[in-house]
Amino acid sequence: MNDLDDLVQSAEADFAQAATPAELENAKARYLGKAGRVTELLKGLITLAADEKKSRGAAINQVKQHVEAALVARRQSLADADLERQLQAEALDVSLPGRQRGRGGLHPVSRVIERIEAIFGSMGFEVADGPEIETDWTSFTALNNPENHPARSMQDTFYVDMKDAQGRWLNLRPHTSPMQVRFARAHARKYADCGAMPEIRVIAPGRTYRVDSDATHSPMFHQCEGLWIGENVSFKDLKVVFTDFCRSFFETDDLRLRFRPSFFPFTEPSAEIDIAFSSGPLKGQWLEVAGSGQVHPNVVRNFGLDPERYIGFAFGMGPDRLAMLRYGVNDLRLFFDNDLRFLAQFM
Ligand code: DAH
Repeated sequence: MNDLDDLVQSAEADFAQAATPAELENAKARYLGKAGRVTELLKGLITLAADEKKSRGAAINQVKQHVEAALVARRQSLADADLERQLQAEALDVSLPGRQRGRGGLHPVSRVIERIEAIFGSMGFEVADGPEIETDWTSFTALNNPENHPARSMQDTFYVDMKDAQGRWLNLRPHTSPMQVRFARAHARKYADCGAMPEIRVIAPGRTYRVDSDATHSPMFHQCEGLWIGENVSFKDLKVVFTDFCRSFFETDDLRLRFRPSFFPFTEPSAEIDIAFSSGPLKGQWLEVAGSGQVHPNVVRNFGLDPERYIGFAFGMGPDRLAMLRYGVNDLRLFFDNDLRFLAQFM
């Protein structure tokens, strides 16, 4: 093998060893650069005699062409490898299932409220909605809860830095009971000229607020008010309706109701409604589910109705509490932490 063949082989080996375009360009310089081996050979021609120069020159030129061809080939194979790597890295597996859009769902408390609405709706109750920022009159005074009366402190009310037309602080409603007043007054007005009025049957679910926070109390919670006013409505009706409601709500006839004497300024007499299941994990335990009572004559008067003619009852229950019982949740705060690991269980 002569020195020229040797050079071509050595260039090919060098190029093959270059793993990157930069290494390849360095290797090229060693052969074809200004001081490269091929260039040096060409420079050496100057010392040769004319005829020798011709044949040697042709041979070196051939070597140069081989080296250049090897260089181009290696450049191409490095570029191919690079492209292949890139394709691999960016490979798409079109057989993978697509990314699905997260499925939304109703919050457990919303589901419970919908359930309450559906059940009371089937018993002829309307569903009403009202403001969460209330006046002093609707939250307290109209409900027979006079200013400075100690019963006002039953609720640790949030006040709003804004006053109503009477110069009294507005409040974040501490219960849904103001809706009794709003709905009954509108209803009474609507039929004022008719000489008679269809019964008021309404529930009013919504958000309520108190300065209260522990495992069973949250500063924002829910209540659902109920009001049934007519010319001939009694506690017996309340018991029937509420028993029916509880049986539908908990999907069992296996429960009993108990009225436990209590006090609310807006009802007289007043009672807490307790239920007890006859089977299941809570068997035999009395659980408070609502406050209730016969609407106080002063409140009926504030509805714009004659308490000698109209009588009825009201109740207020806690959908959060009902949700805890229905779903077996023991910490109210879970409903409001918005942890999807908890909420997703109800979807
Ligand atoms: N508003 C009462 C509370 O927040 C609940 C209540 C009790 C509502 C008796 C009523 C009722 O309508 O008659 O504790």
